[in-house]
Amino acid sequence: MERKFQHRQPPSSEITPQSVYLSRREWLKMAGLVSTASVLAACTPNGTLPSSTTTSAAPNGSLVDEFGNPANTYKEITHYNNYYEFSTDKQAVARLTENFQASPWAIEVGGMVHKPKTYDYNELLKFEQVERIYRLRCVEAWSMVIPWTGFELNKLLRQVEPLSSAKYVKFTALLDPKKFPGQRNRLYPWPYTEGLRLDEAMHPLTLIALGVYGQPLPNQNGAPLRLVVPWKYGFKSIKAIIKIELTDIQPTTLWSTIAPDEYGFYANVNPQVDHPRWSQRTERRIGELGRRETLMFNGYADEVAPLYAGMDLRANY
Ligand code: MTE
Repeated sequence: MERKFQHRQPPSSEITPQSVYLSRREWLKMAGLVSTASVLAACTPNGTLPSSTTTSAAPNGSLVDEFGNPANTYKEITHYNNYYEFSTDKQAVARLTENFQASPWAIEVGGMVHKPKTYDYNELLKFEQVERIYRLRCVEAWSMVIPWTGFELNKLLRQVEPLSSAKYVKFTALLDPKKFPGQRNRLYPWPYTEGLRLDEAMHPLTLIALGVYGQPLPNQNGAPLRLVVPWKYGFKSIKAIIKIELTDIQPTTLWSTIAPDEYGFYANVNPQVDHPRWSQRTERRIGELGRRETLMFNGYADEVAPLYAGMDLRANY
């Protein structure tokens, strides 16, 4: 199911900051008026992103998810971040990432594939760009609604032609303690790694995000590219990816190496399975008072529950 940005009547208060809205409008204008190819040629990680979807922004750019929940503001999305390569303090990440250089950037795609390939960032802009408003539910029991721009990971994986024996996909983030002060902390087995089953990675909801609110991905959100798997806890959505490998063994991941009883490989949002130290039944939506009930698979059960048919989701947390 295609989840494009949805729009509602503008509320009295603007959700999108004016500066973002203006550049977003410019971008939409550009995407509508010129061919995708020429837009792509002009794109850099510091520029604007192309889109092949037909997005019509409400006059103030306000956006809602499919339940009618408003997207979090750009400010909220960019000032409350988990990015341990910089800091464990969510409110400090934005400042610490200010000078991070996300360009040039390349991503190596290989392992059990017929056609391994290293993609330069600009080549990734050639995949069909989509806009999706997804909820991100963090294992720490907070959540946000985020308008992403990016492409379906399955498009990239098909291009490299996985071997029929490949069963999993491993993701590795950049290792560079000069750029990432947090990597000097030896408590963590750097680099940050994550993994998906191949069918999860091929699911149309799984995105490689290149932007937020139509702008190139901010440094604190994982510039220049990160994974987004909306039905899983946020830690699966690895930032600053440099390598994607197809494999036939379940990949080890940073979090499941440190605390396997707290961070399972599947990490599907499941309000019935508590984190060992707190309940997962409710969540705090950033910007709201009070708490919301957490939904099975973060509200994406219709789309993804069949992937886990017959599995014990308490054992496979
Ligand atoms: N990716 C890397 N490389 N390093 C991290 O520390 N944190 C994860 C995930 N991806 C993390 C990461 C966690 S725990 C969450 S909840 C999300 O990023 C947060 O994404 P956001 O900052 O865009 O909200």
